[in-house]
Amino acid sequence: MIYLGCDHGGFVLKEAICEHLKKQGIAFTDCGNTQYDSEDNFPDYVEPVVKGVLNDQDNRGILICGTGIGVSIAANHHRGIRAALVHSVDYARLARQHNNANVLCLGGRFLDVAVALTIVDTFLNTAMDPNPKYQRRMKAACQE
Ligand code: RB5
Repeated sequence: MIYLGCDHGGFVLKEAICEHLKKQGIAFTDCGNTQYDSEDNFPDYVEPVVKGVLNDQDNRGILICGTGIGVSIAANHHRGIRAALVHSVDYARLARQHNNANVLCLGGRFLDVAVALTIVDTFLNTAMDPNPKYQRRMKAACQE
């Protein structure tokens, strides 16, 4: 299952991603915000996404705020969350291959929608590189 969350800075992009997933028949849970609210606060939407992702190792999260920075900071406080702030398709691929990222963080104010959708597809369709050096590094990075 894919869990999505956003604040006002990511609302438009989150809606576009939901539409994109729907079109492909990919199951997702929209954790909100479900309407544009210029006064909402991104940590409120990080919490339900993190909970969902931590339920199953195959689950993924997509978090969007204005820059992607706030949501990535908030998500990475949680043990078991590996949130990556991604700016390009190459970043998305490497976040999965080298970092086994389980949460994709995007900056809604800085990404072209078409590019963001390709980033999402890449993130969801790329596996971690099986080379043990990446596992070793991530274990150390996550202090596991
Ligand atoms: C909200 O205006 C903005 O600060 C937020 O979306 C995010 O970019 C924070 O990191």
